[in-house]
Amino acid sequence: MDELMEEILVSKEDLQARIKGLAAEIAQDYQDKNPLLVCVLKGGMPFMADLMKEMDILLEIDFMDVSSYGDGFESTGEVKIVKDLSQPVKDRHIIFVEDIIDTGRTLTYLYQVLESRQAASIKTVALLDKPARRTKDFQADWIGFEIPDKFVVGYGLDFKGQLRNYPQIAVLKEEVYS
Ligand code: PRP
Repeated sequence: MDELMEEILVSKEDLQARIKGLAAEIAQDYQDKNPLLVCVLKGGMPFMADLMKEMDILLEIDFMDVSSYGDGFESTGEVKIVKDLSQPVKDRHIIFVEDIIDTGRTLTYLYQVLESRQAASIKTVALLDKPARRTKDFQADWIGFEIPDKFVVGYGLDFKGQLRNYPQIAVLKEEVYS
């Protein structure tokens, strides 16, 4: 897959080092709170797997999948739940685990949903943040790396469903997607 990439933005080593740091910081805040880590599928899956293994506290995990109405690139901004949580969240401390925050629509919507279900608290850890793309006023509580507005793939992020298994964050060559 290397031949499809323009440049490596975040290497395997830098990913693991940053994730270890994030996990330690979050774990310290959630000692004795039994947080529910909610992975936003599908892109959040590798990050969730690595992050939770570095958190040395008692916790639980669950998964949600959402999709935008309209096409994937410039959608209408409406979001719908494709897969919901398998348990109630009333009085639980929720931590959303995301691969990337782009426009901010997905998490703005998910906060509304879990607030209406009376979660005790809701926070977000995002591996990547693309602030240049934001259309909603959304800010994650922990960010791995802030990145420029480029087409990135790997470590959960896809192009047409593929390349999620590329083990680092890379910029896709323009000729691949244009
Ligand atoms: C991506 C990403 C976030 C969302 C961020 O998911 O995983 O969930 O977009 O974008 P936003 O801030 O503009 O809402 P995508 O819808 O591509 O689904 P996927 O994770 O299954 O690839």
